[in-house]
Amino acid sequence: MTETVDRLFVHCRQLVTLTDGAPTGPRRGDAMQKLGVIEDGAVAVKDGRIVAVGTTDELTRAYRAHEELDLEGFVVLPGFVDCHTHPVFAKTREHEFHLRCAGADYMEIAKQGGGILSSMRAVREATVEQLAERTEEHLWRFLEHGTTTIEAKGGYGLSLKDEQKSMTALAQAGELVPIQMKRTFLGAHEFPPEYRDDRDEYVRIVCEEMIPALAPMADYCDVFAEPGVFDAQQSDRVLKAALAAGLRLRVHADELSPMGGTELAVALGADSADHLGQISEKGIAALAGSDTTGVLLPGTIFFLGKTGYAPARRMIEAGCAVAIATDFNPGSSHTQSMTMIHTIACTQMKMSVAECIVASTINPAFSLQLDHEVGTLHAGKRADLCVLDIPSYEALGYTMGGNPVAMTIKNGVPVLANVADRQPDWFADGAVLDGEYDDGFDDE
Ligand code: NIG
Ligand code: FE
Repeated sequence: MTETVDRLFVHCRQLVTLTDGAPTGPRRGDAMQKLGVIEDGAVAVKDGRIVAVGTTDELTRAYRAHEELDLEGFVVLPGFVDCHTHPVFAKTREHEFHLRCAGADYMEIAKQGGGILSSMRAVREATVEQLAERTEEHLWRFLEHGTTTIEAKGGYGLSLKDEQKSMTALAQAGELVPIQMKRTFLGAHEFPPEYRDDRDEYVRIVCEEMIPALAPMADYCDVFAEPGVFDAQQSDRVLKAALAAGLRLRVHADELSPMGGTELAVALGADSADHLGQISEKGIAALAGSDTTGVLLPGTIFFLGKTGYAPARRMIEAGCAVAIATDFNPGSSHTQSMTMIHTIACTQMKMSVAECIVASTINPAFSLQLDHEVGTLHAGKRADLCVLDIPSYEALGYTMGGNPVAMTIKNGVPVLANVADRQPDWFADGAVLDGEYDDGFDDE
């Protein structure tokens, strides 16, 4: 007997399911090589969730669908999960990009009042409506690049009032964009000018005033644990106050200079330690023995024009749970493109394409405690799909700088498409339809 479902997506050239591994939990070491690829694959969807994956032949026999979409020629993956982003900002900082290209250093620019403080001034000047509008634009662009779940941080307000404005803008933007989101309070991103000479007082305000007031608007608390910014003791204070307020933890750790931020994150049971360009052997061992995910942000090192990528190979071989993310922000990584991050992760950190896929789907989902919901195409999970106009999944990373995403499907509904000839009449309200897309590959 055939079962009726809402929708069938059929004839995917390759369907990368990740269903030959466990549905939940992080994938470490060799388990990062398994992709569960189905040729001429299909996905059956009901109520926004996956009912089954299989070959088109198997699924068209087993299911009758109200709607069917032919994805012939496309490679289909679970929607990307970007577990480290800073989308709540009011102005870009291209001027600093060119200063860096001319030789200026990121931390030097910051010390002179640029960097995060320049974004702080723009956020403080913006109204909540302006900030929400700008944030909404940033969120849509994640969908354009095949990302269906993000972690999103505030952190450019640096006062109770302005972090509240940031978290409000984020919540409002999130209502308007079909992307799943975990929200992070990042009041400890930098010291604002009014407390530069009394840093401990700012830490006190973060711990005693901002965290209790803003915990209801966030899932996570993060801190920029870096020499010259929040030192080990100040970071520890902030993170413990966050735990006491019921928030979970993420940490900007060992980014530019080693400070033991990774060990601190593991000791406090953080869900992630992020950046890790300067992680120590001790830090790698601590991470490997924990459920804290190491989130690598190679776009940042690339965009800052630095050396010192995180030791991805060492970490994978040691058994760390590894994810990659864009770190989308106006200063150190101005991109929402996960496929661009694949390019940098492959070429600079020597990750395989399979490792990149796992590190941008199930592993980041685990780091956000969303692995039961997204990250693989196991039955029961949300039908979030990234539809790519590439000849095989091996072209991920190879497509440098272009956007190979033809369509993004969230909860079983295409919410955005770059291909004119595949638009069914049941697209979501507000779906952005862009017209013909040239993939740059020869037609077969
Ligand atoms: O993750 N490292 C700290 N925060 C951001 C950069 C913020 C900025 O420069 O605006 C990051 O790279
Ligand atoms: Fe960051």
